[in-house]
Amino acid sequence: SHDPEQRWLGTPIDELNRMPQCAPPLSQLKALANHTVTVRTDLLREGEVPVPYPTKFKDVWDDMSVKMPCSEKNLFPMETEDAILRYNTTHAKKWDFTALNLLCTEPIPLLKSRVNHSLTLSQEQIACLLANAFFCTFPRRNSRKSEYGNYPEINFYRLFEGSSQRKIEKLKTLLCYFRRVTQTKPKGLVTFTRQILNKAPNWESCQTQLTRLHITCEGTIEDNGYGMLQVDFANRFVGGGVTGHGLVQEEIRFVINPELIVSRLFTEALEYNECLIITGTEQYSKYTGYAESYKWKESYTDETPRDDWQRRCTEIVAIDALKYRHFLEQFLPEKMTRELNKAYCGFFRSNANNIHLSAVATGNWGCGAFGGDTRLKALIQMMAAAEAGRDVAYFTFGDLQLMRDVHKMHNFLTDRQVTVGQLYSLLNQYSDTVCRNCHTARPDVSLYNFIYEKISSPATANASEPDKDSG
Ligand code: AR6
Repeated sequence: SHDPEQRWLGTPIDELNRMPQCAPPLSQLKALANHTVTVRTDLLREGEVPVPYPTKFKDVWDDMSVKMPCSEKNLFPMETEDAILRYNTTHAKKWDFTALNLLCTEPIPLLKSRVNHSLTLSQEQIACLLANAFFCTFPRRNSRKSEYGNYPEINFYRLFEGSSQRKIEKLKTLLCYFRRVTQTKPKGLVTFTRQILNKAPNWESCQTQLTRLHITCEGTIEDNGYGMLQVDFANRFVGGGVTGHGLVQEEIRFVINPELIVSRLFTEALEYNECLIITGTEQYSKYTGYAESYKWKESYTDETPRDDWQRRCTEIVAIDALKYRHFLEQFLPEKMTRELNKAYCGFFRSNANNIHLSAVATGNWGCGAFGGDTRLKALIQMMAAAEAGRDVAYFTFGDLQLMRDVHKMHNFLTDRQVTVGQLYSLLNQYSDTVCRNCHTARPDVSLYNFIYEKISSPATANASEPDKDSG
């Protein structure tokens, strides 16, 4: 019944909420026990470079803060550490950390597991930190065995190893960023928030119905999902392989919006019930291709409006899916619940009124490098978004059939007023009756056909009247 030329289905994208239009007024920016702010909030002005706070570098060297290269306590390497560090030692006395000393004066708190905490830095401070990462100056960060073993790599040394096309294109993209920020100082702030889901929803009993869906086989999360909550298909070590060989969705986003990379300096690996929300990063480059064919295209001027905290209205959430080696694994009830909770952790906002929440811009989360099933993951994300009170813009990345299938399922479920709780039970029934005793690599009944049959058959229909037009 659909026009075969149709490139999108569902709700027109312009009917979905975007920032800044949908946002309520922001509270005054101020430092709190759970929010570290490293600039003078009283001097924050549109169009002016934020002033670091405090005025003088506070030198701490403890377990709660990032160990800084400019610290007096930075005694340089022990013999057990690697060649780069030894190389660094010989130059250590000549290093000049003036910029770091002037700009990054407040200790940077580590965003540790099981602690909700926000950190707001200026884009200028971030540029300085990233320049240090580029030159591999962060102490204790060149060995996986160190106290930072549960943190992502921050020093860029792996980017300079080998001569793969991937690394060359990544370096071009990063150098474009460094050129830009050294030509003109960026004037905004960026907030990094580690969010913990303390109490998972009782999915079984969720009474909500699916929210609106826009689904398209064209466009990307970053281009067409501006102003929405944009999903980063993350690794538990945020940024994944960005400082190494990786170059898929997450790594690409991190090189075109390099301010994201600084999150690796202070974000401990994400647990099952945790995510990282990054608000205010700027895009500096355009690219073409993907993975092996990725190419830096050109410098890009990001004109996304800023909010009252001088942050670009670009909100990105890092949520890490599970990696599956065998197709059937992902239908285990505990795995499906884990993914639902992870997505929900990324999407929910405490104390928010739903009318103020932007739509979620997402796509095939966990379904590339991590081997998940797009149809299951689309349902899971729609369920989590519904529970969090947000609409969904889904980018299938060229997959026309997926666009049609997910749209048809979404229509079917909303027509019959199926609740998230009912859907959750159906997922578990599918796991139990179809997947559990399956001895082939793939189940013989697809998840969607199972759902169509269960909801349409009068014996089990609990949501609506049977419908002949449901297969
Ligand atoms: N917009 C929309 N969809 C996209 C985009 C985009 N810009 N880019 C890719 N896709 P993948 P994963 C689609 O493999 O499976 C990284 O190393 C495209 O269909 O990046 O969750 C992380 O650090 C693609 O196949 O995500 C993790 O280690 C699909 O999204 C790991 O990969 C999945 O993209 C995560 O792997």
